[in-house]
This record gives sequence, structure tokens and C-alpha cells, in this order.
Amino acid sequence: MSGLDQARAAGEVSGEPGSGPTKSPRRLFVKSYGCQMNVYDARKMADILAPEGYAETTVLEEADLIVLNTCHIRERAAEKVFSELGKLRALKAARAEAGRETKIVVAGCVAQAEGEEIFKRQKAVDIIVGPQSYHRLPELLQRAQTSRAVLDTDFPAESKFDHLAAPGLTEIRKRGVSAFVTVQEGCDKFCTFCVVPYTRGAEVSRPVEGIVAEVEMLAAGGVREVSLLGQNVNAYHGETREGAPASLAALIARLAEVPGIARIRYTTSHPGDMDASLIQAHRDQPALMPFLHLPVQSGSDQILAAMNRRHKRSDYIAFVAEIRAARPDIALSSDFIVGFPGETDADFEATLDLIEKVEFANAFSFKYSARPGTPAAELQSQIPEAVKSERLFRLQTLLDQQRRAFNHKMIGHALDVLIEKPGRHQGQIAGKSPYLQPIQMEGSLDRLGDIVRVEIVSSGSNSLFGRLLPDRPAREALR
Ligand code: 5AD
Ligand code: SF4
Repeated sequence: MSGLDQARAAGEVSGEPGSGPTKSPRRLFVKSYGCQMNVYDARKMADILAPEGYAETTVLEEADLIVLNTCHIRERAAEKVFSELGKLRALKAARAEAGRETKIVVAGCVAQAEGEEIFKRQKAVDIIVGPQSYHRLPELLQRAQTSRAVLDTDFPAESKFDHLAAPGLTEIRKRGVSAFVTVQEGCDKFCTFCVVPYTRGAEVSRPVEGIVAEVEMLAAGGVREVSLLGQNVNAYHGETREGAPASLAALIARLAEVPGIARIRYTTSHPGDMDASLIQAHRDQPALMPFLHLPVQSGSDQILAAMNRRHKRSDYIAFVAEIRAARPDIALSSDFIVGFPGETDADFEATLDLIEKVEFANAFSFKYSARPGTPAAELQSQIPEAVKSERLFRLQTLLDQQRRAFNHKMIGHALDVLIEKPGRHQGQIAGKSPYLQPIQMEGSLDRLGDIVRVEIVSSGSNSLFGRLLPDRPAREALR
């Protein structure tokens, strides 16, 4: 960071939007809902606002600028935002009485989907900004000084990726050894239940060089693991410097060369875009972790067709066999929806049957929730809530059994663990296995960022407990 940037980050440079009563830095509080891309976007918003004199705080009451980074994927996500906004309105009023101004920003997918409706429903909101316009936040804040309400939910012609601010090294170090990097955004698949194509827009891939530069920066700040994010990340086709499209496999191969980067992951994928080069990467690229989150949603062909998933149950099962042949130790994770309109008992049983056949190490499962503006919301055959709840319970019981069995299988084996943070108890450290399992062990924090060998001694429902083994010779211990 330059001297000027540092001064700005500390709020010592005048002439910026907003006016606090003193020259102390203004405080920014960002709360994110929903997916990991929102978590990443929240970091980027903080990076963009730092040079404007905003320092992040974890204390809501002291924030001069509050950003709710919202999620629209399911009903309750949006409802939580409106209930949160109600509380913020009271906070804003109390701070105003004490002579302190508070600006409230609604960002994310609810902002994109609801737009002006939010101003109508909650008068305390100052700015509404969609996910493609975060780079314009400083300008929007400036405008909010003179207008009552500022809205920016365009899909701008310029890419926000060209305007992302880079955090300083000190900032990266605070963020830990594992980082997310958005490489692709948006979706052209139009599954009939999903709002993403409407809120995040069409598929866009970030050019390779920008991603490499960001990952090099992260690695210089101590990051060892990157998770490449995209709503349809395996459809990635970013441009190389020469102007040719690069596949996700090619991007992964390039990032594996960045010194310090030992682990690479990617999420979320569509089964239709799992190409041969990515399967090969799972076989040949040691930095690519043997864990794949591949949503299937349902095990019934009728429902998959009604969902416009563009794959059949047999395609999914065949793909799983193929990737397991390439990388026998790969663990699978998935997303499921129960109670999609028209789902019969037989359809639901077919989903349970697919789960029995595939065996998942982890999963996320949801009751279908009708999203306004999506085709499935218009279907007549909506499923009663009680049926959805019962199906979800049965599905989660089965998935939970599989997760426990997967974790239990690790006992007595040695796993490579990336040490990420202090453990739950004094004298313990915690990290993640290649399969994303949280692992606790006795050990010293000077191992932070190291990949250590750990013998697993016990497993709980969510995490494993292990014992540090002696390091392998340096060359072997790279991954
Ligand atoms: N209702 C329930 N679950 C949904 N998902 C997406 N849209 C809906 C919806 N309308 C789930 C899917 C997707 C995950 C991110 O959220 O399983 O993969
Ligand atoms: Fe939504 Fe389907 Fe696109 Fe995934 S692939 S983001 S579920 S439309």
C-alpha cells in the first residue's frame, strides 16, 4: 500500500464522500448472507471502500456505513434481510439522535431482484446496488450525499472485474491461509426453480491474467489454498493473454504454478459442463483437491426434466463412475431440492435411491421454495409444506448417515491437513483435510499455513480429531 493509500485507509485524507463528526476513519460493517460468492463480494466491497476512508468494524452500532449483502436463492434468505432492515432502521434513528449519520446499503441478489421495491418497503435504505455494480460504490456514496435514494442495478457494459481493488498484504494476512477467488459469474442454464440467471446475469468469465495476478498477491500474503468460485465454474472460458479461451482445467494448471499455492478447489459445477480435461486434471494435477461439489438436485428423470437440468439421472451416475475411475479417492458433495412442483413419492424415492448408489461425503439440501419470476413458481402442482418437511427429514437423515460413515472411515488413516487457525481448546490447532473435513489436533500455532500429516483418531458429526505425525521429507510434503 502506498503512503497515500495508508493515509486514506486511516481516514486522514479529506475530500471523501460522507462526513463524520471527526477525522477518525469512518466505520464500515458488512453482513453477508448466502453463498461463498457473496462472502468474496463482501471482501471486495471492503477493499473498494478502504481507500475512501472506511475501516471495517465488527461492531454494528459504531458503523457509519452498513452494507447488507443479500441472498435471494430461497424465501427465508430474503425475509431475514427485511427483518434485519427493520432493526437497522431503529439503529439509524438512534444514531441520528446522537448526531451521527448512518448510511444503509442493500447489495446482492435481493437488491438486484427487488430493486425499488426495497425503498418502498424500507425507507431507511439509502443505496441499492446490484452484484455487477460494486465497483461503483464510491460514486454511489457520493451521490447519496445529495439524493434520498440511489439505485444501481444495471448490468454495466464494463466488467466489475476490471475495477476490483487489490487488498494490501497486511489485509490478506489477516484473512488467513485459504481464500476464495471469483473466476466466473452468472448462469445461462435457467433451471426452472432458480433466480441466479436473473440476479447474477449471463455467464461471464474473468480473463486468466487478472486471476493469476490476484492469486499471486494472495500467495504473497500467505494464502496456500484457493477456491475458485463461479455459479457455473466449470463452464469457465476466460481469455488468455493471447486472446484464446482457457478451460477451467487450463486455469487450474496455470494457478498450480504460482509459488506457495498448494491446494486448488472449485465450486459450483453443473454436471453438463464436466469435460474430459477437468476429469484429467483430477487425475493428474496433485494441487487439485479430490473433492467435487456437483449438484444433482433430484434423482428422478421427470423432475430433472421439469427442472430443465439438461441431464438425466443416468448421466450423473455415469459421470460419477468416470471421475471415480480417474481419481479413486475423490469425495462427492451435492445439492438437493425436495418438493419441487409435481414431485411424487416415486420421484422422491428415486432421489433417495440415487443417494444410496452414489454415496456422498457431504451435501446441502433444501425444500423447494417458489421464487417470483421463475417458471417453476407458476406451476400448478405445488407440494404441501408438510410433505416437503417430511421428505427433507428423510433425505437429510440418509445424507447425514453417509457423511458420518465417510468421516468414520478416516479413523486410523493419515490425512494431509492445511492448518488454518487456533483450535477450539487451548493448545489445539485446526485445519482442513483434502475432503474439506475440519480437523482438530494438539499443536502449535507456528504450524499455521503448513500442510501437516495427521493420523485421525476419532470422528464427531462435523469434525475429526487427529494426532500430528512427523513431517515427510520436504519434497513429498509439498501438497
Ligand atoms: N428452492 C430451493 N432450493 C433452491 N436452490 C436454488 N433455488 C432454489 C429454490 N427455488 C438450491 C439448489 C442450488 C443451491 C445453491 O440452492 O439446490 O444448487
Ligand atoms: Fe441456478 Fe441452474 Fe444456473 Fe445453478 S445451473 S445457478 S441451479 S440456473
